[in-house]
Amino acid sequence: MAYTFAQYQESADYIKEKIGDFIPKVAMVLGSGLGFLGDVVEHPTAIPYGDIPHFKASTAPGHKGRLVFGTLAGRPVAVMQGRMHHYEGYSYDEASYAVRVLRLLGCDTLVVTNAAGCVRTDWKAGELMLITDQIKLFSESPLRGPNLPEFGVRFPDSSHLYTPRLQDIARKAAAELSLTLREGVYFYGYGPQYETPAEIRAVRTLGGDAVGMSTAPEVTVASHCGMEVLGFSLLSNMAAGILDQPLSEQEVLDAAAAAKDKFSQLVLACLEQL
Ligand code: HPA
Repeated sequence: MAYTFAQYQESADYIKEKIGDFIPKVAMVLGSGLGFLGDVVEHPTAIPYGDIPHFKASTAPGHKGRLVFGTLAGRPVAVMQGRMHHYEGYSYDEASYAVRVLRLLGCDTLVVTNAAGCVRTDWKAGELMLITDQIKLFSESPLRGPNLPEFGVRFPDSSHLYTPRLQDIARKAAAELSLTLREGVYFYGYGPQYETPAEIRAVRTLGGDAVGMSTAPEVTVASHCGMEVLGFSLLSNMAAGILDQPLSEQEVLDAAAAAKDKFSQLVLACLEQL
């Protein structure tokens, strides 16, 4: 079922009652490993997803399921601690619902982070990747259904989903921190099963550098409603078939925990400039 504009407004109105005259500028969707940034937001107002009209719960491991409003790196932010994924059973418009609500509340920028499989054999697990573009060819669009012109046009341009100006900020921040920051294309696979080795070979042929089960739907929706987007992947594991070992969720969570410090330093350094 497609949402109406009035439903998005209802969610935004509920949140406005809780946050008063605070206006968030940067929406942050934090994936595996970076959710803790929601806990260091200053002057926080935290709202559980379950309290907000029309919001869905986040059931993925390590995802807290609440929105935190406040200040981070001196910027007014709305942090989604935990996201909703299609593989949890949500439709794409359900999984990306919060982005439009945060847009209505004043956010003009979306920062997205995730853990992803590394498709490139010349890169290593544990490295960070600036997302320069995405491929989401094999699943339906979160914009399917009646277009809501209050948010954007029917056939949105997708030439620059990830904002070039923000990519430059990330490159400079990484250089200042002496961090290796890879750059590449995020290939969206809807999961929840990890890919087969044959699928990874196909992803590589199609131009994917990293593969993951999130992010792309939210970014499509954010761009449609005019938000600038900055995205990062933690390459938590080599994608299927590259190493002679099975993929596991534990490996992803361990890699996310190990990269937590450098990943958060990079994101906070960028945030200061957004
Ligand atoms: N594939 C898909 N999603 C992922 C992976 C992967 O290898 N690692 C972390 N998220």
